[in-house]
Amino acid sequence: MTDENGTIESHPLHHGEEVESYPPSAEFRAQANVNDPSVYWRAAEDPEAYWAEQAQRLSWTKPFTETLDWSNPPFAKWFQDGELNVAANCLDRHLAAGLGDRVAIHFEGEPGDTRTITYAELTHEVKRAANMLTSLGVEAGDRVAIYMPMIPEAVIAMLAVVRLGAAHSVIFGGFSAESLRARIDDARAELVITADGGYRKGRVSALKPTVDDALALHGGGSTVERVLVVRRGENEVSMQEGRDLWWHEEITAFDGAHEPRGFPAETPLFILYTSGTTGKPKGILHTSGGYLTQASTTHRDVFDLKPESDVYWCTADIGWITGHSYVVYGPLANGATQVIYEGTPETPDWGRWWSIIQKYGVTIFYTAPTAIRACMKVGRQVPEQYDLSSIRVLGSVGEPINPEAWRWYRDVIGAGTAPIVDTWWQTETGAIMISPLPGLTALKPGSAQVPQPGITAAVVNEAGEQVDHGQGGLLVVQRPWPSMVRTIWGDDQRFVDTYWSKFGDQYFAGDGARYDDDGDIWLLGRVDDVMNVSGHRLSTAEIESALVEHHAVAEAAVVGADDETTGQAVVAFVILKSQQKLLTPEGAEVELRQHVTAQIGAIARPRQVFVVGELPKTRSGKIMRRLLKDAAEGKEIGDTTTLADTAVMQTISARMRGEL
Ligand code: WTA
Repeated sequence: MTDENGTIESHPLHHGEEVESYPPSAEFRAQANVNDPSVYWRAAEDPEAYWAEQAQRLSWTKPFTETLDWSNPPFAKWFQDGELNVAANCLDRHLAAGLGDRVAIHFEGEPGDTRTITYAELTHEVKRAANMLTSLGVEAGDRVAIYMPMIPEAVIAMLAVVRLGAAHSVIFGGFSAESLRARIDDARAELVITADGGYRKGRVSALKPTVDDALALHGGGSTVERVLVVRRGENEVSMQEGRDLWWHEEITAFDGAHEPRGFPAETPLFILYTSGTTGKPKGILHTSGGYLTQASTTHRDVFDLKPESDVYWCTADIGWITGHSYVVYGPLANGATQVIYEGTPETPDWGRWWSIIQKYGVTIFYTAPTAIRACMKVGRQVPEQYDLSSIRVLGSVGEPINPEAWRWYRDVIGAGTAPIVDTWWQTETGAIMISPLPGLTALKPGSAQVPQPGITAAVVNEAGEQVDHGQGGLLVVQRPWPSMVRTIWGDDQRFVDTYWSKFGDQYFAGDGARYDDDGDIWLLGRVDDVMNVSGHRLSTAEIESALVEHHAVAEAAVVGADDETTGQAVVAFVILKSQQKLLTPEGAEVELRQHVTAQIGAIARPRQVFVVGELPKTRSGKIMRRLLKDAAEGKEIGDTTTLADTAVMQTISARMRGEL
């Protein structure tokens, strides 16, 4: 088989099964940032030297002499005696290099308003904002919560915070007041930066009122002293005297004179909360020098970025790690020109993304499989109406991409020729860990394939031993890497227990994986109680505890059932308290879906809620979610012999078929 991009070769996946692979074209390879395969073994021979070399591409106010301190595992210190200012690395140094007129951000608001912001302008605005934050008392070592729509001020706010040596905690705008408050409390933030509202699906979605609700919860009394509000949605908001300030009013007092200070490389840069296997979200802590080194290196090499000519677009929201590393820090550290779009792909219609690609001549496009599948469903006739010929590299992140979606993405969006980089990584890893390099790797649809240079990831068995080619197991990272999570904020023990107790010195990612016969890595999804819905991580325990907080619910079990579009979907099984039997199953479903939305946010809303009389439990009382997952997926129910009551699954299946 051949295509115009070169030979498609066939490789065995599992024994007997063939997968096609797509080597880079000679033309792409010749121009690629990384096109010498010796990079892999050179980095493997001395990973620290490799990363020290990458770190030299940043500007250090004080050079580091020690690359890695791993004397107290699993607490890594990278480049620790060096000092730098992360914001200055993303801004000022590009001006010093004469690049001030380069566009940093092409902003496209959902209603169609646009702004073009050069590096000089972005730097000026961040300096003013830093001065404003200083006047509000923000200092090195503080935490600032950011709850914003996808507008340039979100990026400006993040960079202004870190310019001062403070850390931000960005909370996705879809989270509820409860979730917001829990994160503010955990980080002990004294300032919240928000907006009145932002545009989503053709209307203004309010944010400031949620901040008000969050701060009023639990009788008020939060750590927050000030709320800074950007005007965007022009929706009605109330401003609390002495606490709330309008950004556009405050900022007028400040000019763009601000000298960045260097801070030690291990200065906390941000906390980002993510779901774990328990109900309480984990505050993933990232620090400065190592994080910026790996975010910028991978952004340059994995996407083959040419900052002088590429127009890059990552569709992630800044509320997620992808937005941190591949909208803010990676691209800006590399002096890239990028698109930031505020809204949803279907507004006003499904042509929106493709019209943006055509309008700005986007060359590198990075999105999630769930979005690709949604676009596939709508049909190729939509993107085919647009000129997408500027695209030269495509990226995928967040969940395994099924080969069918991969091929559609390459054919329809990438003209059948663009390489797709399927990037595996996590909030905890901070930056891309496993991915093809587009100038080197013969791509296999559905596989993230190869650890990045300088990264040692492996598939191991339960004993922590690497498995053979053709075998499956658990994914681990074997050596510390620069952008690794430093701890769980305020909870070192949980950090150790979660990631390092299973295999000791190897980082346990929580993902299943397998090697194919060539030794390429295929990710198989989570092996713990974390679900992946539309590329977003959700915890079964967190949703279960939200459900049992409802006055009518006695017990709840939540599973992630396979879903054609969203990868997985939340399906809940609940037992109602006896006095609540009058609530109809339909009534309970509506009410409980709404309840979860209010407690956590719409991303966690169950697709279905089934009222059941009993839950399948082992004799020791552990809920067997595996069986519920089978039922939710309409599959044959697996082995029920360890259940205390083997009849319970028959009753549940009958209930789900509507027979009871
Ligand atoms: C999953 C997102 C397969 C995985 C950057 C991981 C993937 C979790 C991929 C992290 C991929 C992410 N192929 N699975 N290319 N990328 N995942 O923290 O299960 O939101 O553990 O970070 O998403 O999700 P998180």
